[in-house]
Amino acid sequence: MPSISILAPAKINLTLEVLGRRPDGFHALRSVMQVIALADRLTVEPADTLTLTCSLPELESAQNLVWRAAELLRRETGTAAGAMMNLQKAIPVAAGLGGGSSDAASALLALDRLWDLRLPRGRLLELGARLGSDVPFFLGETGCALVEGRGELLSPLPDLAPRWVVLVRPPQPLSTAAVFGALPPARWSDGARTGAWIAASEGGRHVPPPFNDLEPVALELAPAARAARDALRAAGGEALALSGTGPTVFALFEEEAPARVAFARLGERYAPGKGAFLSRFGSLTEA
Ligand code: C5P
Repeated sequence: MPSISILAPAKINLTLEVLGRRPDGFHALRSVMQVIALADRLTVEPADTLTLTCSLPELESAQNLVWRAAELLRRETGTAAGAMMNLQKAIPVAAGLGGGSSDAASALLALDRLWDLRLPRGRLLELGARLGSDVPFFLGETGCALVEGRGELLSPLPDLAPRWVVLVRPPQPLSTAAVFGALPPARWSDGARTGAWIAASEGGRHVPPPFNDLEPVALELAPAARAARDALRAAGGEALALSGTGPTVFALFEEEAPARVAFARLGERYAPGKGAFLSRFGSLTEA
């Protein structure tokens, strides 16, 4: 079996509503998630033991979701096979872009093939949900989906009209749990605005303005995220939102030229490829 190399793309949340807190401590969500072209690359090769190397050495640990996905797969299927795994990171870490979750989904898919496990998709989805709330989305088959539950319930949505995406990842970490916890129950909602957003998209022909109910609390917790949002607007971004629990903010552009102008302006303050990113809507099949 030769090596297998797959792309692990990032996601953005085009809508995000929090419906409430569940008995298990997670929050029930209603969100439209969209894959973007910005992607990590995972390569796996046959080996006697399990090893993981990464372009960011600090991610070469047993905490890495790629490593945890491999261990989970070995435990659940009883396979003793090993793999030499290499992860090339392009997606910023802990940014609200689902990078770790996408890496985990890619590990499940790549190792399922490398070890010839042929697990049914339903089983992969179940294992993915145990690794993280966003993992099932990356195991889905569409670049755009309505995501519910704590993130594990997927309804495919039609492909959206293409958009350029300019992202700013401010240099201030934000804890997912802290952002969810800071949202007062008065700001929980019934998910109707996500339903209205999907209806307004008319089968994908339009991309209504994105929104994220976690944005006010995230911007409060991370002033650097507010500064990033202001910078994105000053650079020409109009359709803006926070992605996930942040701290990354993004702007959608119909045309390439203004997206490139915004990206270039932001590059004076946010290092390209580290703090500022130029991307576009992507799909999972490109992976
Ligand atoms: O599932 P994941 O590991 O990404 O979640 C990290 C933390 O974020 C959880 O421990 C929980 O505190 C919070 N979370 C939540 N509701 C979700 C997803 C995550 O409260 N739907």
